[in-house]
Amino acid sequence: MKLPFENSEYLERQARLFSEMPENTTLIIPTNDKKIRSNDVVYPFRPNSYMLYMCGWKEEGVFVASNVDGEWGTTLFVNPRDTETEIWEGIRIGPEGAVNWPVTDTDSLENFESKIRDLFGRTQKVFCIGGVSQRVDELLAGVAEIGDPRIILDRMRRIKSKREIEHMREAARIGSEAHIHAIMTTLPGFGEWEIQSAVEGYFMKSNSNWSFPSIVGGGDNGTVLHYNLNECIVNDGDLVLVDAGCEVHGYASDITRTWPVNGKFSDSQREIYELVLKAEIAGIEACQPGAPWVNFHRAASKVIAEGLIDLNVLNCSLDDALGHPDEFDGQFRNFFMHGSGHFLGLDVHDVGGGRKGDKEPGPLLEAGMVLTVEPGLYFAKWRTDIEIPPRYEGIGVRIEDDVLITDDGPEVLTAGCPKTVDEIERLVGTGA
Ligand code: GLY
Ligand code: MN
Ligand code: MN
Repeated sequence: MKLPFENSEYLERQARLFSEMPENTTLIIPTNDKKIRSNDVVYPFRPNSYMLYMCGWKEEGVFVASNVDGEWGTTLFVNPRDTETEIWEGIRIGPEGAVNWPVTDTDSLENFESKIRDLFGRTQKVFCIGGVSQRVDELLAGVAEIGDPRIILDRMRRIKSKREIEHMREAARIGSEAHIHAIMTTLPGFGEWEIQSAVEGYFMKSNSNWSFPSIVGGGDNGTVLHYNLNECIVNDGDLVLVDAGCEVHGYASDITRTWPVNGKFSDSQREIYELVLKAEIAGIEACQPGAPWVNFHRAASKVIAEGLIDLNVLNCSLDDALGHPDEFDGQFRNFFMHGSGHFLGLDVHDVGGGRKGDKEPGPLLEAGMVLTVEPGLYFAKWRTDIEIPPRYEGIGVRIEDDVLITDDGPEVLTAGCPKTVDEIERLVGTGA
């Protein structure tokens, strides 16, 4: 089996992590548990991103590192070979095969608890990612103080290496082509699920899979931010919003395009679409190295707020439309209620800061970061708590691209996916 990175890249990550950790420490990074879907059927297993980042191990397992007397060593605990289980579930790599992974030692998960207790006797501190594996959480239940390695790892993960960027480019390429394929196949009267199958079928054909459940919302369904029932018909005269992305070696893309089901934007749809596009382009332009994290949200929000005033959706000053200069909590939030983007990487909402509710403000942008830019406007018919202009009822538009920060400015990894009105209108329903 070929890993997505040279062993040397994993070993460099480990060394960087260890260099910031105290001596005499046991560090435990588990992968996540299998999850029951119903009765005896489990969800397809997707390993925890920290495990992928540390050593690329994709089966159940625990990565353990320990520093005893100033020397770091690592052990990968994995399921042992077991013919009875392997007949049903497939051949295991086992501790014997796992020696090819970037660790100093391997062992059977059957020995995990006893080996960890032994390490606890020889080290003073414990660091662990909790809430991922019940088995590990139970083992650590009595430990008074547990450090969290994510404080270091999340900072590392937000700057992508050359090879990580190659995988993300590939995820962006497949995701872009999948959207083009879906735009081309769309016809009035299609089921949302048929558009979903065009997108996800393209992922699968490309030896990929979704990085989050695909959102395919026609008309009013496009106003529900995380709608993914995908069970309605898309109607002539409506827009359809598709927010979908795929994974390459665990690295996500995350793309949204919105298009008219019949291939022609109505005047009111075009007004909203052009405004969101202008905001998205302003947001991307604000993704400059050295810029504060908040800048791209500020840039996109300002365009949206001004545009809503121009379209008479808001009858207030720009200050009232935007709200507090640090909070962006003005009246425009009635129609653009999410952030303008997030880090992207091994998780679609990747680690590294910049998320709502974080204690710290997001970091300054740096070359090697990858983030999404994704403003939107939503005029849900079903909202009774705010006034929805009749002209825009049932319109939900979001446009989302994946952006790499470089020393020369933003590079749109998903630039292959068309987004101007003309490009989109030329493509819809042309067949695939
Ligand atoms: N697909 C969820 C998001 O765009 O954040
Ligand atoms: Mn998205
Ligand atoms: Mn996103």
